[in-house]
Amino acid sequence: MKKLAIHGGAPSRDVTNNPWPTWPVWGQEEENALLEVLHSGVWSYNGPKETEFNRLFAAFTGVNHAICTVNGTVTMQIALEALGVGLGDEVIVPGLTWQATAATVLDVNAIPILVDVSEENWCIDPTEIEKAITPKTKAIIPVHLYGAFADMDAIMTLAKKHSLYVIEDCAHKHGGEWKGKKAGSIGHIGSFSYQLSKHLTAGEGGSVTTNDPVLAERMDALRNCGRRPETTITEGMDKGAGEYGDDDGNFIQSGNLRITEFQAAILIEGLKRLPQQNALRDANGEYLNKLLSHIPGVSPIIRDQRETQKAYFNFAFRYHKKEFKGLPIDKFRSALQAELGIVVDASYEPLNNCSLYVPLTKPARHKLNDAYWKAIDPKRFSLPVCERIFKEESVCMHHKVLMGSKDDMDLIARAIQKIYAHAGELLE
Ligand SMILES: Cc1ncc(COP(=O)(O)O)c(C=O)c1O
Repeated sequence: MKKLAIHGGAPSRDVTNNPWPTWPVWGQEEENALLEVLHSGVWSYNGPKETEFNRLFAAFTGVNHAICTVNGTVTMQIALEALGVGLGDEVIVPGLTWQATAATVLDVNAIPILVDVSEENWCIDPTEIEKAITPKTKAIIPVHLYGAFADMDAIMTLAKKHSLYVIEDCAHKHGGEWKGKKAGSIGHIGSFSYQLSKHLTAGEGGSVTTNDPVLAERMDALRNCGRRPETTITEGMDKGAGEYGDDDGNFIQSGNLRITEFQAAILIEGLKRLPQQNALRDANGEYLNKLLSHIPGVSPIIRDQRETQKAYFNFAFRYHKKEFKGLPIDKFRSALQAELGIVVDASYEPLNNCSLYVPLTKPARHKLNDAYWKAIDPKRFSLPVCERIFKEESVCMHHKVLMGSKDDMDLIARAIQKIYAHAGELLE
């Protein structure tokens, strides 16, 4: 075996001559669509591209309504507002997720309750949800983290038993299916992100999905200054709702969270590419997981049998230091990064100690009263599994590594084996 790349040996992949696939993916179709919008002069505001994308994404997700908005953070905020979640309510969220999942709960003046995740797939643990339910609990936000599926059977059973709402955070799961139902169609509302790193991207953007017409109407209004959905705009003039003949005027307080036609145009083209890209990521993800299951010291994230379509996202796996002669995980990740020529990272930081989830830095906004101030302190939550995953086990790579060939997956597995064989040198 050759010397490790981190010590100056030849890397497992020569990325200068053999680069990884790139992300985002775009072509002539996107260029044409963007120019079409540019020349039309209709650049925003319930335009034809936005309307078309909403229709296509609803059909793709298997729901009656999809509404796009500026990102996958405000999607959760308007979902909570549409459900009437606010002051005095508790919302259960996983401790291992992007900060937005909890931050949006704060933004509607409710209390984020952080609970631990399952060791096997890093998604919210239903047993921990049940322990956290109180008379104040109003909703659960499961996250289908890194493309694994939260246990939606257990979560929906608990929600029914305790009359709770479920908002699926599908920022990592466009196109995934649980027992034949798409992510975002199982809970009361689905929330999607189109930020640059996501499966489907317009740089920024997001959608909410639902089968409930009342929730759809409210969320549509909430992303459009509170206007009733049937309101139209003429010549880009941002008029009041009353001027459109709606006797009730605005029916809900809100601001402008609208997407542009340029983003919608890109999303329409991206959605055409998504099924094939998902199929490629899934085939490679499954194959790589199989390879990992034969390498000592690493193990795959368990994919649930009930996932009828996987929709792999960023590729994550587990590292077990003991079998690597006690090699600390950061050294393993640095060595793998040097071998592969791609960023190899830890998972998100657990939200009870996360540099981007710091509610107590904003008293003017969040100190509603002393009891609330105490309740939103993230440090009061104990998340041993999240902490272990973050500090000791998580190895994560961008999903573009899954968009290459089977040979690329073999190469990743060989790079890990190479580090395994030379672990002692990294300890010197
Ligand atoms: C799990 C999860 N939820 C929500 C979001 C928020 O999406 P956005 O960046 O579009 O606001 C992200 C984005 O990274 C995410 O990963």
